[in-house]
Amino acid sequence: MIRTGFFITFEGVDGSGKGTQVEMLKNYFKEQNIDAIFTREPGGTKVSEKIREVILDNNNKELTDVAEMFLFSASRSVLVENLIKPALKQGKIVVCDRFVDSSISYQGYGRNLGADLVEKVNDIALNGCKPNLTFLLDLSGEIGEKRNKQFVEKQDRMETNSAMFKQKVRLGFLEIAQRNPKRFVILDASKSKEEIFGQILSELEKRKVLTLHKTKKKPENSHEL
Ligand code: TYD
Repeated sequence: MIRTGFFITFEGVDGSGKGTQVEMLKNYFKEQNIDAIFTREPGGTKVSEKIREVILDNNNKELTDVAEMFLFSASRSVLVENLIKPALKQGKIVVCDRFVDSSISYQGYGRNLGADLVEKVNDIALNGCKPNLTFLLDLSGEIGEKRNKQFVEKQDRMETNSAMFKQKVRLGFLEIAQRNPKRFVILDASKSKEEIFGQILSELEKRKVLTLHKTKKKPENSHEL
């Protein structure tokens, strides 16, 4: 039987607990012998990690909003062509911590560049590569802010944005989800991590992603974040 790949993305504001869920899913897939590749944005390849450093460095004050949008999409193009598409072609599950919806929300809504412009630029970067399923961890700005202060020692260039910026980003995500109801699953990020993870698993089961991608042998080492 020829397996088709399946592309899952996780999205949410900073402090939404998305990283924890990605880690839980990675461990679960390993235990269950489910063949999957895990990656993150910005980053995931050598070049994309270099672009990530430029984007997040607090010293890079001269970056314009437009340059930021292009850097995120440049990093995405490299990741899509070198890692995501080849893995999907091999029938694997690919899980990405943030993807194009982060650009639409952060640069389109947060930076006021507009969703249409950011989508257009990213269509070129994606070159047809779209997620099949997106988990949005939705969290009010206030709780996100508190969590960030608790866990992040030194804030990067994106984390230093105002509360108003973060509010716009959150609304951006919710609007994209509304426009794409089949692809998006909205999760209440204020719930316990176990409860959220349970919802993620049942959604994957409902879509038969788990049964279709179980291998008999142990999967090769999944790609590290
Ligand atoms: P990161 O440390 O990876 O944040 P997190 O753990 O919350 O995912 O930093 C990535 C930052 O870049 C984060 O603030 C979100 C932002 N971002 C954008 O603004 N646009 C994008 O397209 C992507 C992928 C991320």
